[in-house]
Amino acid sequence: MIRDWLLILLSKNYQCMKADFSVKTPSRSYPVYVRSELQEIPFANLLQSYDSDRIFIVIDENAEIQFGAKIRSLLNNLSIALPEYVVPSGESSKSYDQWKSIVDFLLLNGARRNTPLLAIGGGVTGDLAGFAASVVMRGIPLIHLPTTLLAMVDSSVGGKTGLNHPQGKNLIGSFYQPDAIVMNTGFLKTLPKKQWINGLSEILKYAAIRDKSIFDTCEKLFLNKSFSAESEMPDELIRKCAKIKSDIVARDEKESGLRMILNFGHTFAHALENCSGYDKINHGEAVFTGMIAAVHLSNNIGGELDISILESFSGLYEIDDSIRSLPVNKLVDAMYHDKKRLTKNLKLVLLQDWEKPYVKEMSDTSLITEAWNYALDLISSK
Ligand SMILES: NC(=O)c1ccc[n+]([C@@H]2O[C@H](COP(=O)([O-])OP(=O)(O)OC[C@H]3O[C@@H](n4cnc5c(N)ncnc54)[C@H](O)[C@@H]3O)[C@@H](O)[C@H]2O)c1
Repeated sequence: MIRDWLLILLSKNYQCMKADFSVKTPSRSYPVYVRSELQEIPFANLLQSYDSDRIFIVIDENAEIQFGAKIRSLLNNLSIALPEYVVPSGESSKSYDQWKSIVDFLLLNGARRNTPLLAIGGGVTGDLAGFAASVVMRGIPLIHLPTTLLAMVDSSVGGKTGLNHPQGKNLIGSFYQPDAIVMNTGFLKTLPKKQWINGLSEILKYAAIRDKSIFDTCEKLFLNKSFSAESEMPDELIRKCAKIKSDIVARDEKESGLRMILNFGHTFAHALENCSGYDKINHGEAVFTGMIAAVHLSNNIGGELDISILESFSGLYEIDDSIRSLPVNKLVDAMYHDKKRLTKNLKLVLLQDWEKPYVKEMSDTSLITEAWNYALDLISSK
């Protein structure tokens, strides 16, 4: 009898510890857990190996309001210090000032090379805290707990960390892989609809570049019912998307080739974010607009894509009216300042067909201008 109970307990613990998959990059391999309840996160097992007397929590402001106390109460079982830094919500936190404050906070609160940092929040907190973790003592252990859809399917995976600069988005940063990623899809219950749609864009990106069956799943999940706290969490879809990213990153950790396809729509998107000062449009809205422009451009130079598949999601986006009036020549100019540009000509990720991305050098700005006009018309014609 006792033996049976022990076996059940051990198997439960094993299930709890079993990673959904691993990200295997040349610099580090690490597990990704996808769980639907906070209680299912194997904090003790994850953290015991560090033998540290403290764990740093760097947490997004809204995530702190929603789950800070619950997370601390789970970690309190470990009986160690939990110094906490709260990151103000919003893209403007990806700044020198916030990064410096976090580095100061870590050093003033007893960071050692084995002190783990839990980065809890969306892509902003993950990128910012990840960059701080990568430089303090030349790198302290980092564990991502993404709390937005976008961060689960994209930004927490792959080790890109960074800050924005007035000269452009993500111009400062590092490649720094975490030790683990723990996705609790239960966190998404408090996510506002706008943030679900923000995350949808990166999911549609995976559909476009890798697996067009994702379009059907998104249609069922996003177009046929409205998302709310009661929504069914699309765990399987999240797992699938994070795995697609993980497989790409495993083959090209530092973006010397294949990883570039993850930038599909992003050269347009970064220009939009940059020209609008980051506060009028969120990353996902910019990426959606960018993908429309990129598909239109792809079709203009020989692609054969049914753009209506992507456009059918446009009704979900509520993009600020001011975006339509951004001067297109400024947007084109901003694209030429994208950090991904290595040559005189612009390099864009385009599609021959769905799932068939390729990189194209573009010198003809008239085609790019036309693509911008098409995409901006679409987002403002709803
Ligand atoms: N590192 C990468 O590979 C990578 C990839 C894609 C995007 N990014 C970056 O990610 C950033 C965007 O990330 P994001 O979209 O997650 O934005 P975000 O981090 O700003 O979060 C969006 C909003 O949701 C709130 N929030 C977070 N979790 C919540 C929750 N569970 N419930 C309620 N509210 C919650 C935040 O306070 C914020 O207001 C951009 O800076 C982008 O450049 C990085």
